[in-house]
Amino acid sequence: MTLWRSPAKEALWRDEFSVLAADERYVSRRQFAKFLTLASLGMFAGNLWILLKARFRTAPVFAPATVARLGEIPVGEVKLFAYPAPQDRCILIRTAENDYAAYSQKCTHLSCAVYYEKETGRLACPCHNGFFSVKDGSVLQGPPPRPLPRILLEERGQELIATGVEGR
Ligand code: FES
Repeated sequence: MTLWRSPAKEALWRDEFSVLAADERYVSRRQFAKFLTLASLGMFAGNLWILLKARFRTAPVFAPATVARLGEIPVGEVKLFAYPAPQDRCILIRTAENDYAAYSQKCTHLSCAVYYEKETGRLACPCHNGFFSVKDGSVLQGPPPRPLPRILLEERGQELIATGVEGR
């Protein structure tokens, strides 16, 4: 059996293989319109889902959790804790005798852990030299796009309780 006819004719296998390469790339107007319609419907459904999710989103409820006892850490020192979930690392700073501040320890740039710089009184991110204010968590310097989420604190008796997260 020969697979080739004379050089002037097509190869024999081309006759038996019914799909032509030129036709394979050809997209009809109907196919293209169908594709556009389906893609548009998909995008519409996605946007509708995002809209409904935003509309019916309820504020997260945070369970109160004990962070520290009052006076447990000296002035200018820190304590690390997790809130509201065990993977959410936070930092508590005793900024004055009766003053505490707590923030998420995750930098808002690329999530490196921030630490307290006692000498400058700032929260520093070592990854790209980002700095945050210890007063309100705002960005002082560097690439972080947003302030650090603040952990809301309440004094109850001799305990410092975390009651929520602001700016998450
Ligand atoms: S990760 Fe903190 S400044 Fe880049």
